This record gives sequence, structure tokens and C-alpha cells, in this order.
Amino acid sequence: MLILNNVSRTFISKGNTINALDKVNFEVKDKEFICILGPSGCGKTTLLRIIAGLDKPTAGEVMLDDIRVDKPGQDRGMVFQDYSLFPWRTVIDNIAFGLEVLGVDKKERYENAREYLKLLDLEKFENSFPYELSGGMRQRIAIVRALINNPKLLLMDEPFGALDAQTRNIMQAELLRIWEKKHKTILFVTHSVDEAVYLADRIVVMSARPGTIKEIFNIDLPHPRIRTSQEANIIRDRVLKSLGTEMEHAMK
Ligand SMILES: Nc1ncnc2c1ncn2[C@@H]1O[C@H](COP(=O)(O)OP(=O)(O)OP(=O)(O)O)[C@@H](O)[C@H]1O
Ligand SMILES: [Mg+2]
Repeated sequence: MLILNNVSRTFISKGNTINALDKVNFEVKDKEFICILGPSGCGKTTLLRIIAGLDKPTAGEVMLDDIRVDKPGQDRGMVFQDYSLFPWRTVIDNIAFGLEVLGVDKKERYENAREYLKLLDLEKFENSFPYELSGGMRQRIAIVRALINNPKLLLMDEPFGALDAQTRNIMQAELLRIWEKKHKTILFVTHSVDEAVYLADRIVVMSARPGTIKEIFNIDLPHPRIRTSQEANIIRDRVLKSLGTEMEHAMK
């Protein structure tokens, strides 16, 4: 279980104080799929970075299975907002990077990486370089790279933001497949209400900066979900309304 306990983060930049997060309290159960929505600049990336152990809260704490998070660890994998593959490494070496850091030998690294490549139907591309792949393929590789150390918790920051609508829908379905098969807990930041309603067990709407949790929506619909169903439409309307007032605050 992941527990956010009064997590606050203040940045001091060029003499200005920016309150990015203010007392965020939230609990995530194992194997939950959580989507986080909120206006630009409300601290979503900051929150994921703190959970990943890449940044520290100014106040409050993050607990993962009763252990206080203060550095990155194998129990968490992160897919960044701008999917950052190493351009000089082949697909398989990108994927195997996390195992290489751990000192796993090459044969085992590759065996492991190939299993994931197969899962995503990308075996043919193991020796390709990122520039030889489409955006959707690169994004799949970035996800696999985060999965390779078998983290319990997958932190995803707008992972599909740069994809066309068609590819994005396919990626969403693939992610659900991985989530169900590998039993991950997922925290997924998105700007798309539609995407959140399709994926999440719960949607967290954050307020405009300083980011805090404004409202949580439970989505009790089975997968695969029908995007245009009446139930989905009702939830989408409620989430949009909640988000809409925050967008207005963010613009002021
Ligand atoms: N390293 C930093 N130094 C100073 N300010 C920062 C730093 N990182 C983030 N901030 C500020 O904290 C606030 C929250 O930033 P963050 O990137 O978490 O927002 P976000 O919700 O992810 O936005 P977006 O939806 O645009 O990605 C912003 O005002 C940003 O300028
Ligand atoms: Mg962000």
C-alpha cells in the first residue's frame, strides 16, 4: 500500500516561492489503477517524482509498504512525460538497462528483456535504435523499460500524450492487459478525461496550484469498457465539471 501523508513541496526559484503541492493525503491499495488529472502546473509531475524518490517533499512523507520513501528503488518504475530512451542504445539494451545497473549478466538480461518484447509484439525490433521506431513503438519500449525490474508500482506521467488518437487507444488497451497480467499498481497522470474514464479504478482530480486533492471518483465499470456507454458519459461529465472549475482558477 502507498500512503501519501500531508505531502507538500515548495520550490524557491529566483527569489520566488512556489507552493507546488500542499498537504496531499491519499492512499493507494495494491493493484489499483489510479488516474490523476489536474490543470497544468498543479504539481502532478512533482508528486510522481516524490513518490519515485527523485525529489523530496518539503513537509510530509510517502510510505510504501510501511517504508518511508527517500530514494529511488526497484519497487517503483517511472515512465516520464517526454519518453526518454537512450538514442545510442538498441531497443534491447534500452530495455535491459535497469538490469544492467543491478549487475545482472548479459544472457539473463536479454532473456528477460525478450520476454517483455514478446509481450508487446516487438521481438523483431530488438536490434533497432529508437530513431528507427514510430512514436507508439518508442512509448511501448519506455513502458517495458520501466517494467523490467518488476516494480510493484508503476508511475506514468502523461505517457500517451504525444500519440495520435488511434495509437493511444491501442496503447491504453495494451496497458490494461499488462496491468491485469502482471498485477501492478499504477499511478497514471493524464490530461485526458476520456483516457482516465477508460482506464482507472479511481480518478483523482487535483486543484490548481498549490496542488491538493480536490475530488476522487470511483469507477466501478468492468474492463474492457465501452467509451461511449451511458455510465462512462455520466462519469466523464462529473469529472469534467470538477476539473473545469480548477482550470478557471489556473488561468487567473
Ligand atoms: N525544479 C523546480 N524548480 C522550481 N520550480 C519547479 C520545479 N519543478 C516544478 N516546479 C514548479 O512547480 C509547479 C508544479 O510543476 P509540475 O511540473 O509538477 O506540474 P504538472 O502538474 O506536472 O504540470 P503539467 O500538466 O504542465 O505537466 C510549477 O509551477 C513548476 O513551475
Ligand atoms: Mg507534468
